Amino acid sequence: MSHSEANRVRIFDTTLRDGEQSPGASMTLEEKLQIASVLENMGVDIIEAGFAIASEGDFECVNKIAQRVKNSTVCSLARAALGDIDRAAEAIKPAASGRIHTFIATSPLHMKFKLQMEPEAVIEAIHKSVSHARNLCEDVEWSAEDATRTEMDFLCRAVEAAIKAGATTINLPDTVGYTTPEEYAAMFRTVIERVPGADKAIFSTHCHNDLGLAVANSLAGIAGGARQVECTINGIGERAGNAAMEEVVMALKTRSDAMPYHTRIKTQEIMRASRLVSTVTGFTVQNNKAIVGANAFAHESGIHQDGMLKNAETYEIMTPESVGVTKSVLTMGKHSGRHAFADKLKDLGYELGDNAFQECFRRFKALGDRKKNIYDEDIIALVDDEVATSANRMQVVSLNTYSSTTGSAFSDVTMMIDGEEKKAVVYGSGPIDAAFNAIKQLIGFEPHLQLFQVHAVTQGTDAQGECTVRLEYEGRTVNGQGAHEDTVTAAARAYVSAVNKLLVKREKTAPAPM
Ligand code: KIV
Ligand code: ZN
Repeated sequence: MSHSEANRVRIFDTTLRDGEQSPGASMTLEEKLQIASVLENMGVDIIEAGFAIASEGDFECVNKIAQRVKNSTVCSLARAALGDIDRAAEAIKPAASGRIHTFIATSPLHMKFKLQMEPEAVIEAIHKSVSHARNLCEDVEWSAEDATRTEMDFLCRAVEAAIKAGATTINLPDTVGYTTPEEYAAMFRTVIERVPGADKAIFSTHCHNDLGLAVANSLAGIAGGARQVECTINGIGERAGNAAMEEVVMALKTRSDAMPYHTRIKTQEIMRASRLVSTVTGFTVQNNKAIVGANAFAHESGIHQDGMLKNAETYEIMTPESVGVTKSVLTMGKHSGRHAFADKLKDLGYELGDNAFQECFRRFKALGDRKKNIYDEDIIALVDDEVATSANRMQVVSLNTYSSTTGSAFSDVTMMIDGEEKKAVVYGSGPIDAAFNAIKQLIGFEPHLQLFQVHAVTQGTDAQGECTVRLEYEGRTVNGQGAHEDTVTAAARAYVSAVNKLLVKREKTAPAPM
């Protein structure tokens, strides 16, 4: 495989922008910072951190990510409006390497009905917006929204205007997931061949998955001359989502014989990123999802298992280790000491302060009393839960539930709310309903429950349950997570974690509610 610069494909991750546009996928600042750090460590070239003009919260996220990230370019989206571009420039100012990404639609349908602009006015807007962005930042990307439904002559004129005005990257999105691989590759070839100065810019793909073709189209775009791929972890995004980064990267790596291109991605970090994005958004990854699904490396049939034992290559085209899938490792038991626990946390990539370490160790010991075998996944779930909830205004102190097949259930919940212990005993149709009712009584308001899901962290009936709860209140939506060996407690912790996020979001936009 040739590793020349000419064959390097830049990975532009838009999980935090297009990915967050999936309904229900809202993320907090802390969560976005955590994801950005994982993306940086895995070698992502450009992180699209948000849409700075969209809200104060979006601005803050882009700005904080720009302050923290050192090894990836940090980018903000902006419409073709000077105010949008100014805000994007301000948000990325602290970045070691920053980019402004400005866009306008170029298809007849979008220009006529959405923008209500004549084509000439769109060309003028491209010139103005890109020139303005270029005066504020060296690195400017311009996107032709709905490029795949744009007339070729007009697309070439628009791209030429953007390059003349100083755009360094030209993105040709398949905004509605409509194109086919042959068509998309041909579009890049034609534009690159026809537009004067095309050799000065990097061309980029941006594919949506409405027909399930986003990854195939992205790869075809590379064959047509693109050297940047815009994608998201787990393929999250508007409607059916965006091209999945893990699939694009592993296709290029595994089939380098057929596609002689390379990326900088450390593929062993893929699984970590996938799990984090899934936990934060509450979007479970389907079992048969390529690369990161729970069954992606499972072999069920006898014939396959027999082949695998003789030579793994019989049924595996890439190793699980190459994408960071590790076998469930039986780590420790209740007799493991403080040192062994500290070493394990280091191996798993955690650095905890003293108080967090003490609390995690206490919970680990308590877990060991109830659960015979403790796996890496148990420790990850426990530590993530503790780190996410320890500084919260509201916490679950204790919970007792009673339920039966013959009558209703009740839950007795004690919470710490702003340093004060409060208790409620409330009925419900089942133990989780009762626990949530008790929490609602204690917090004094009633968020709307949009999603509740549980999955077992490991196998066995003594496994910890990991819960996600999505709450909506006064137009704000948040996801909360909680893990515990008692599923009702995990659910209550997830509910309270979401409530805390609602409070943070509310405090940022209005006086504190309580
Ligand atoms: O899908 C799209 O066209 C976009 C642009 C804003 C790049 O997300
Ligand atoms: Zn998009």
